[in-house]
Amino acid sequence: MGGARDVGWVAAGLVLGGACYCIYRLTRGRWRVGRGPRLRPSPSAEDLTDGSYDEVLNAEQLQKLLYLLESTEDSVIIERALVTLGNNADFSANQAIIRELGGIPIVGDRINNPNHSIIEKALNALNNLSVNVENQDIIKIYINQVCEDVFSDPLNSAVQMAGLRLLTNMTVTNDHQHMLNSYLTDFFHVLLTGNGNTKVQVLKLLLNLSENPAMAEGLFGAQVDSSFLSLYDSRVAKEILLRALTLFQNLNNCVKKDGHLVLRFTSTFHKGSLFFLLYGEECAQKMRALANHPDVDVTEKVVIITIQF
Ligand SMILES: *[C@@H]1O[C@H](CO)[C@@H](O)[C@H](O)[C@H]1NC(C)=O
Ligand SMILES: *[C@@H]1O[C@H](CO)[C@@H](O)[C@H](O)[C@H]1NC(C)=O
Ligand SMILES: *[C@@H]1O[C@H](CO)[C@@H](O)[C@H](O)[C@H]1NC(C)=O
Ligand SMILES: *[C@@H]1O[C@H](CO)[C@@H](O)[C@H](O)[C@H]1NC(C)=O
Repeated sequence: MGGARDVGWVAAGLVLGGACYCIYRLTRGRWRVGRGPRLRPSPSAEDLTDGSYDEVLNAEQLQKLLYLLESTEDSVIIERALVTLGNNADFSANQAIIRELGGIPIVGDRINNPNHSIIEKALNALNNLSVNVENQDIIKIYINQVCEDVFSDPLNSAVQMAGLRLLTNMTVTNDHQHMLNSYLTDFFHVLLTGNGNTKVQVLKLLLNLSENPAMAEGLFGAQVDSSFLSLYDSRVAKEILLRALTLFQNLNNCVKKDGHLVLRFTSTFHKGSLFFLLYGEECAQKMRALANHPDVDVTEKVVIITIQF
């Protein structure tokens, strides 16, 4: 019975439990070749996962860890394996090695887990893996599932934040942004209802999308509650206000040139869309009020936006 599980446990002992032979040691940001086992107790699983552990796994160890992750159903082991993989994926060489070992689907499949703590760790590991463009080409198959998790999990939850971070990093290029088109209204809903951290994270994502003219039609057409305009208020935290203004500025760039509307599809926007909110009288009033804001970063953006009006 349980052959795979036994092998898994052996691998757990090797990789998580300790026989990690300190092949590389990161010292002052430089790689150094170590000299065999060091004269200190072998690191325990906790050492590997508490953030103080400074050694990087080699390809063979990563393979064992991936095999373990694939074969175990023990949630504690899964979680630790995901964290260790995530930390190792912080190094660009390992991002490629993990992909070449077929590791991305092994990590990605763990987002289909009933345990939210495991989903979060899998999302974090995918996020670190996503810094590599070739990895993004594989990770994109999880975008729909990640969106579902982001919108079905409780507001401001760890899973929601981890998902938003991953989606933000998956949209630093334009390649996969179109995959978010059917969720834009939902992102605005989370923006308006989430706490400060959630708002900032959603705005980072929306800012990336708003720099892509191909996304403008979808963004303008999103159904957005009129409370969106309360973001354009002097009492709103600067890190939120500035991003909300930059969003407006980017979108303006997509519709106006020399003060004229250049968008073909403006007639297709309905009442209740972001387009109607941004180009309505209430928003114009908000901009006039913000023109007196004490912060020069804010007023500079307001000036640019109102010149474009
Ligand atoms: C989820 O996994 C964590 C980490 O292994 C564990 O501590 C927790 O008990 C699990 N929760 C459930 C509901 O199984
Ligand atoms: C991912 O990378 C960040 C730095 O970019 C690091 O702080 C973090 O520990 C890594 N691991 C996980 C699981 O997120
Ligand atoms: C995600 O993207 C941000 C901004 O480009 C970058 O600073 C960060 O290192 C990326 N990776 C992770 C794991 O957050
Ligand atoms: C997305 O945002 C990040 C910073 O959060 C930035 O580095 C990157 O250039 C942006 N990408 C696009 C396409 O706007």
